[in-house]
Amino acid sequence: MRALYDRAAALARLYGYRYVETPGFEATELFARTSGETSDVVTKEMYTFEDRKGRSLTLRPEGTAPVMRAYLAEIQEQPSPFKAYYLTRMYRYSRPQEGRYREHRQFGIEVFGAADPGADAEVIAVGDGFLRGLGLTRIELQLNSIGDEVCRPAYREELIAFLRANRDRLTDEHRDRFEDNPLRVLDCKDDACRAVAKEAPKIIDRLCDPCRAHFDGVQAGLKDAGLSWAIEPTLVRGLDYYNRTAFEFVSPGLSPQQATLFGGGRYDGLAEVLGGPHVPGVGFGMGLERVLMAIEEEGLTPPEEPGLAVFVVGVGDAGQARALELVRELRAAGVAADTSFEDRPLKAQLKMADRAGAAYAAIVGERELEGGTVTLRRLEDGEQEDVPGDALVEALVPKPGAAPAGRGEG
Ligand code: HAM
Repeated sequence: MRALYDRAAALARLYGYRYVETPGFEATELFARTSGETSDVVTKEMYTFEDRKGRSLTLRPEGTAPVMRAYLAEIQEQPSPFKAYYLTRMYRYSRPQEGRYREHRQFGIEVFGAADPGADAEVIAVGDGFLRGLGLTRIELQLNSIGDEVCRPAYREELIAFLRANRDRLTDEHRDRFEDNPLRVLDCKDDACRAVAKEAPKIIDRLCDPCRAHFDGVQAGLKDAGLSWAIEPTLVRGLDYYNRTAFEFVSPGLSPQQATLFGGGRYDGLAEVLGGPHVPGVGFGMGLERVLMAIEEEGLTPPEEPGLAVFVVGVGDAGQARALELVRELRAAGVAADTSFEDRPLKAQLKMADRAGAAYAAIVGERELEGGTVTLRRLEDGEQEDVPGDALVEALVPKPGAAPAGRGEG
């Protein structure tokens, strides 16, 4: 998980995003108002509790609303566009099952203050780049536009009329409730609902001119970035704050309930819902447990935290003292190094080096102490050489551009 966090942070920074952290819980109202009264998050997934003064609080189920709340509180001091990323835990009270946990981790990015479709394309490219950087290839980008306050109301009425005519074919959950939020039926994973959704009128055929132009712009941006996608007219997303662009990356090898590795879209009205000015926004949230599942499903090795570059083995009292000296020098030079706290036989210490994931063992025994050298052994293949004691640091400092020593990678 740490290795995923490191990669995500490095990639986000590469695109000019900066780290943002919000509290683990917030006033319930923040999520209730932004996610939507009929959303799953609000109707059944919030971890809500009262504090000692009777205030209603909720463990953070998603990151977009909290980041927007924090941004609006200090909007004057923020750059425009404001580009932020987060790596944090989210809490959702649903029935735990494979790929759906009560606590999960998300890598999320948000761009506030950019209405241009280029921002949508960039956000999608960051998520795509992250997954491909892990070696994933069986992933699919699904894209849709869900219109805006100009074109969606008429579409909504048309969809309600269609669902009324097909009411008997819906599952119980939707039969009596589709009038509140008809778009949710389109998002339902149940086979019966999917069959109805397939025949339903499609929002992308009903977009107003500005939404159509935006959607075309997003696709042009994706093409430019070398991405491919499938238009998925029933993709509507489960939270109410979205408008225009909606997207999901799915791993078709995983079962439908857990296949969405990340999802997101545009939310140009969110800031106003929170009492702020008009601030267009776009972003995604990626479930990192699901990313690990996809890595396993494709038979790939998950990334690891970088391991130790060197474990310094000191034999005997004098050897141990010298080992400690060397470890201090190595660390001061930025080389990840460790040694044993206690005097142990050479063989036991070499085992420690191996278990610690070190790339090298540097051995200081009687012979080395006499000659002022260190035996540098590459643990991968046992190849070893004598190096002068004062050249050890030099031998292990990573050369510019070279991968860091250590068997994991970051
Ligand atoms: P979301 O689709 O609700 O969107 O969640 C984003 C991702 O988090 C999902 O695609 C999934 O990978 C993962 N996820 C969600 N719930 C669970 C769970 N219970 N267990 C494991 N993984 C889960 C949002 O949260 C939006 N805030 C994303 C966004 C950011 N939109 C714009 N900006």
